[in-house]
Amino acid sequence: MEEIEEPDELDELSDEIETPSDDSVDTSKFLTNDNPYIKSMFPVFFINRKLKILYANEASKNLLHGFRNLAGQYLTDLFGKFFDLDDIRQIRETILKGTNGYSWKGEVKIKSREMATIQTKLYLFPLNPDSKDPEEFTVMFDDVTEENRQLLRSVFMSLLEASKLKDNDTGKHITRVNHYSRRLAKELYNKTDYERIDADFIDNIGFLASMHDVGKIGTPDDILNKEGPLSDWEWTVMQEHTKNGAFILSTYPNPMAKEIALSHHERWNGSGYPFKLEGDMIPLAARIVSIADVYDALRMRRSYKPAIDHPKTVEKIMESKSTQFDPALLEVFYHIAEEFNDLYQTNQDKD
Ligand SMILES: [Fe+2]
Ligand SMILES: [Fe+2]
Repeated sequence: MEEIEEPDELDELSDEIETPSDDSVDTSKFLTNDNPYIKSMFPVFFINRKLKILYANEASKNLLHGFRNLAGQYLTDLFGKFFDLDDIRQIRETILKGTNGYSWKGEVKIKSREMATIQTKLYLFPLNPDSKDPEEFTVMFDDVTEENRQLLRSVFMSLLEASKLKDNDTGKHITRVNHYSRRLAKELYNKTDYERIDADFIDNIGFLASMHDVGKIGTPDDILNKEGPLSDWEWTVMQEHTKNGAFILSTYPNPMAKEIALSHHERWNGSGYPFKLEGDMIPLAARIVSIADVYDALRMRRSYKPAIDHPKTVEKIMESKSTQFDPALLEVFYHIAEEFNDLYQTNQDKD
């Protein structure tokens, strides 16, 4: 029977929250010098029973720098789309019915276009722990973004290290490809037509670009290190590094990893590999990385070719406009090409 009654009860709860009444609260009673949360390094809000933010400390303003005017907003307006419906239901119950001693904890991922995703643990408890019927509550965030990111990336970094043992590309090559890709993505961020590029995209491509050749871990050494031209069969095996890379990176939570590995040798006119994708069928991240990768490969001296200087490299790349590369991206590349040169110079190989 209880299950049937529950929805009505919750409707009542929502009504109570949504009904506007006098929100003015005398904040001076808790904004005292001895309130430990005000100077806390943990981001903290004080909220009322209607989930309205009465106060946001400095740490919370730093954490949520993409959001303006935290105080005065409702927690549900601010984070509504980031919470599960179930979370919101539980938070409301906690506050209005005193479930679990007026305390709740959960996890929430918050993001905006300007701000990379933040993963945080969220704790809610009464502002005054002695209060029998609390009116105000503390919401405390524990930012675990960096912890999670480091953990995830360290796993894939070790894969990258393993693949580097086999490949004759230098470690600096992959670092530079990260830098160029990130720079190009940053430039696109401010252009119309690239709304899907957000802070997460820029952050991710700046790490995942380095993974483009991770599939070479499965390519036989004699093909990888062969000095002369490859036979047809060897070339077929060589091309498999794209599919192998995609397979290896399929467990990475962001599909961009797979897209870069699989499609960084596709060409704008459909003459690339492995699938002869053309135009914007090629994922944007892969189109960006292919420019970065080729720029760097041309600059480097290899056993079978001399290094090429910056102006010649730019010239060669621009010649491939509309055949190998996305012409719109090349415009942007051309505009910031000097910075590619700077990145190459400042991240030089030792020898
Ligand atoms: Fe490759
Ligand atoms: Fe490369």
